[in-house]
Amino acid sequence: MTYGLKDKVILVTGASDGLGRAVAAALGEEGANVLILGRKDVELEVTQARIEALGGRCLAIPFDLLNFDDYGKLFLALKDQVPHLDGLVHCAGELAKCSPMEHIKIKDFRKMLDINLTAPNMLTQIMLPLLKRAASASVIFTSCDMVEEDQMHWHGYGLAKRALPYAAAMWQGESPKKPYRFNTLNPGRVRTEMFKKAYPGLHGRHVPAPVVVAPAFLQLLSDASKDIRGQSLHAIDLLPELKDYVAPEAAGEDT
Ligand SMILES: NC(=O)c1ccc[n+]([C@@H]2O[C@H](COP(=O)([O-])OP(=O)(O)OC[C@H]3O[C@@H](n4cnc5c(N)ncnc54)[C@H](OP(=O)(O)O)[C@@H]3O)[C@@H](O)[C@H]2O)c1
Repeated sequence: MTYGLKDKVILVTGASDGLGRAVAAALGEEGANVLILGRKDVELEVTQARIEALGGRCLAIPFDLLNFDDYGKLFLALKDQVPHLDGLVHCAGELAKCSPMEHIKIKDFRKMLDINLTAPNMLTQIMLPLLKRAASASVIFTSCDMVEEDQMHWHGYGLAKRALPYAAAMWQGESPKKPYRFNTLNPGRVRTEMFKKAYPGLHGRHVPAPVVVAPAFLQLLSDASKDIRGQSLHAIDLLPELKDYVAPEAAGEDT
């Protein structure tokens, strides 16, 4: 299936691993121009090679999203290299260790808010002039189950993710008639390094690989989703095949 994203210019953060890498590769397969951002050069090179092998074009951007003072420099470096941005996918994220609020250190708490909430909002803000130059553009914030569920021990991560649907709605509310849109997508559980860290005992067969979930992002980037604006969505509602992955709790199995 194609999503009509050939030649579109799309920036994906967290593209050096996991879900972001899978979304970037799927965009490469569509023939898009993919800008990939992450800290690890070598891992970015792996993603770049994958995109190019699939027929897309790629610009790798090694960048630490916690360096907020450098966001302006990043924009200046990009603004003459790319004509506009048709899409911005915020996949970068991090999970400090899960622990009760009682024990969380302030530096870990702040880091979770910074990488999962401040960074996607501030990167959207700095890239807005490029998004405005596109005929229509789609910004996707990646949320998680904590948006709807009070899961214990996720402290700053869960708080940050729960705020993302509000952020998307606010961005959209402030741009009601503009051709760019802002939505939040909950991928559900995805078999990545982050997932393994969070659920070390859970068997992979219950959890889809990133490549299975990536098409949900492509749907939201495509013109077919133009009228979805300021919404909070779940990948399982966009991709019925995700229903085949049954949580072990539901299947009556031990995790
Ligand atoms: N996996 C799941 O089950 C699941 C469930 C719900 C939501 N999510 C969300 O999905 C997104 C992708 O997660 P994932 O599972 O693919 O995680 P992952 O495999 O751990 O990948 C995280 C990505 O974020 C990047 N990143 C982290 N800190 C960064 C920083 N300071 N600056 C720039 N990039 C940074 C990492 O790149 P570098 O290390 O190269 O910087 C990496 O590419 C996250 O937002 C996560 O919260 C995941």
